[in-house]
Amino acid sequence: MNFISPEWQKLLDPYKKDFFGIKKDKRIELWQKILLELPSPLDKTVEMSSEVKIDFDWTPQDSVETKDLLLKLVPWRKGPFLINDVFIDSEWCSHFKWDRFLELNVDLNDKTVLDVGSGNGYYGFRMLGLGAKEVLCLEPNLTHFSQFLAINNFAQSKKIQMLPERLESIEIDKPYFDVIFSMGLLYHQRDPGEHLRLLASHLKKEGRIVIETIVTPEDYKEVLVPSDRYANMPNVWSVHNEIGLEKIILEQGLEIIDSTEAVMTTVEEQRATQWMPFRSFESALEEGNPERTIEGFPAPLRKFVVITIQSNQL
Ligand SMILES: C[S@@+](CC[C@H](N)C(=O)[O-])C[C@H]1O[C@@H](n2cnc3c(N)ncnc32)[C@H](O)[C@@H]1O
Repeated sequence: MNFISPEWQKLLDPYKKDFFGIKKDKRIELWQKILLELPSPLDKTVEMSSEVKIDFDWTPQDSVETKDLLLKLVPWRKGPFLINDVFIDSEWCSHFKWDRFLELNVDLNDKTVLDVGSGNGYYGFRMLGLGAKEVLCLEPNLTHFSQFLAINNFAQSKKIQMLPERLESIEIDKPYFDVIFSMGLLYHQRDPGEHLRLLASHLKKEGRIVIETIVTPEDYKEVLVPSDRYANMPNVWSVHNEIGLEKIILEQGLEIIDSTEAVMTTVEEQRATQWMPFRSFESALEEGNPERTIEGFPAPLRKFVVITIQSNQL
């Protein structure tokens, strides 16, 4: 049986028998060892609609050993995940973002979904919780990929797969997806318009693209182009205000049909933990001024927009 389509299945084939397929990385040997040592549940209960939680029989020793193994896959950026009593307390409380997405009432039931830049698949699992038929996660970062393999070792869902590739490297020109997510990617693109066009090239006619991105305040210039970092993040090429964001969307023959309020990121939503023990959001803001980044820019506001292909383009 093909996952999504014969073309997509062909890209996934190398990962069927071998966790890391055609990928090369000096950490792969260690990751493989960790994945093979994780317990594989025979009988389990999987919850994905209110949180990502997997329960199955294990001993106190399994718990200690599994926690040690999973901690070797740090940094856990997205989550949390609950594997029996092991709570993977990731850097991001990703359910905050998911709750904002839920305000939009985008129907995922029985839909074929692409999640571009999916991280470790936290949101992909939550999409299954909303009834998605198949979720394909695209994520080139192999640490995130190894975490996905670890979580799906417990969840054992055949409805979600991750392909460790960048969107630009996919050469499939037929649109197979009802809903395409790009969350936290637009400001990392050298050419955000090209990113939107590429997303749209995989979208079925009546489909929806869900973009989550950072915006600047309304009264700030249309596009902020940091010369170096923005909120301590490297590779931020541009951050638009809402007018600038709508402009680049319209320029690609797309249109916004719904959106959420822009909300400030807080240290409750993004922070260092045992599972992500490095610098986090607290070091991204000016001391004593949560409205400014340490570079002196407006602090990040995050917003969802739901977009479709303009009817005159169909
Ligand atoms: C800031 S993270 C956002 C993760 C997740 N979507 C979220 O909203 O929490 C961006 C992710 O996109 C991935 N990424 C960056 N460029 C990409 C591309 N061209 N194609 C696919 N994934 C990409 C990165 O590896 C990273 O995991």
